[in-house]
Amino acid sequence: MKAAILGYGNVGKGACDIIAQSNTGLEVKRILARRMRPGMEDIITLDFNDILNDPEIEIVCEAIGGLSPAYQYVSAALKAGKHVVSANKELISHYYAELNALARENGVCLRFAPSSGGGIPWLPNLIRAKRCDSIEEISCILNGTTNYILYNMTEKSLSFETALKGAQDAGYAEADPSADIDGEDTRRKCAISASIAFDVALDENSVDVFGIRHITAGDIAAFKEMGKVCKLMVKAGVKDEKIYAYVEPTLLSSSSLESAVPLNYNIGSLVGRSIGKLSFYGQGAGSLPTGSSMVQDMIDIKEGISGAPAPRSTAKADNSAESHRYYIRTSASVKGLRSISDGDSKFYITDEEYTVAEMHEMAAEIRKSDPNAFFAGICG
Ligand SMILES: NC(=O)c1ccc[n+]([C@@H]2O[C@H](COP(=O)([O-])OP(=O)(O)OC[C@H]3O[C@@H](n4cnc5c(N)ncnc54)[C@H](OP(=O)(O)O)[C@@H]3O)[C@@H](O)[C@H]2O)c1
Repeated sequence: MKAAILGYGNVGKGACDIIAQSNTGLEVKRILARRMRPGMEDIITLDFNDILNDPEIEIVCEAIGGLSPAYQYVSAALKAGKHVVSANKELISHYYAELNALARENGVCLRFAPSSGGGIPWLPNLIRAKRCDSIEEISCILNGTTNYILYNMTEKSLSFETALKGAQDAGYAEADPSADIDGEDTRRKCAISASIAFDVALDENSVDVFGIRHITAGDIAAFKEMGKVCKLMVKAGVKDEKIYAYVEPTLLSSSSLESAVPLNYNIGSLVGRSIGKLSFYGQGAGSLPTGSSMVQDMIDIKEGISGAPAPRSTAKADNSAESHRYYIRTSASVKGLRSISDGDSKFYITDEEYTVAEMHEMAAEIRKSDPNAFFAGICG
């Protein structure tokens, strides 16, 4: 089966290398790039129409990133009756309903395993579990950069700034790390994973998100005293017939599976009504791991294995039924909370459970007077 790769960067090159080294029955006929590479004149094109108008190319793999021109290329490929694999979480979470519908209308497959979990077969196994089970909850660590920062802050007692610099030096964090440390990248992966788990097209903007930009070494020291480890968790499930979905720093028991996830690794877990908890662990990013996930999707297409089920409807996350206790560190006074520590590193542990919706609203309010405030959910 002949394929084209759009974008010859980390993921696109990784996928090409894996196909070249293995016996998949796939052939990369064309690569779309923005500039020619010496010795690759026969395979690289700078014109997407060379791919769109080539009837031999049956699969188009998008590894460009961003919304435009990825959206235009993916839509055109689907309309031309070509299967699509995309690594692009921004594209998939933004256009989930539309691109899924377009694939169905044109009788082709849209797959996007590399978009959430990098090299981990997280989305394919979520789809597989649903064939004979219903998903009750998903809980995941899906951002390697923030896990690397939190891991090094915890293990080496580093400040946030030093741990972030280490992540940048190691090539895990970008020069502008905002999308990772503010949780936007994770929000998109949450929306995609929850859409699959609960058969909807979940509005990414309805997913409550709080990142780790303001976590301090003092917070980490307090968590250690509590016997907790902080991770940036994706959580989604169904409660009172409402889909909850959110991303927030979460304090986990130091003996939990998730608290043991090191460095830039990821984990995706589902709870099925019949199967119970199933977890998938590995490298959530990187050229070859993510390229491998892209090639696995291509092989599934070649073998006629279907992708995600059609969303039944569009939906917004409703976090008013999901609740737990919270750690809140702020210099602002917070009414109704029990303070357990005073002084420079003042923090609160809520006595009662707060709904996720309430906490995220309260945090937005607190941060008007204390922009450096930090909170984390307490689980386990
Ligand atoms: N890297 C990972 O580990 C990873 C993991 C999971 C998912 N992803 C996702 O995979 C996608 C690609 O990421 P990446 O890390 O491979 O990015 P990357 O290394 O920056 O590669 C993107 C490539 O696309 C090319 N490109 C950009 N616009 C183009 C256009 N209009 N036409 C043709 N080529 C174009 C770029 O060309 P130039 O070289 O000219 O800039 C670059 O080579 C993103 O959506 C990312 O979120 C990445």
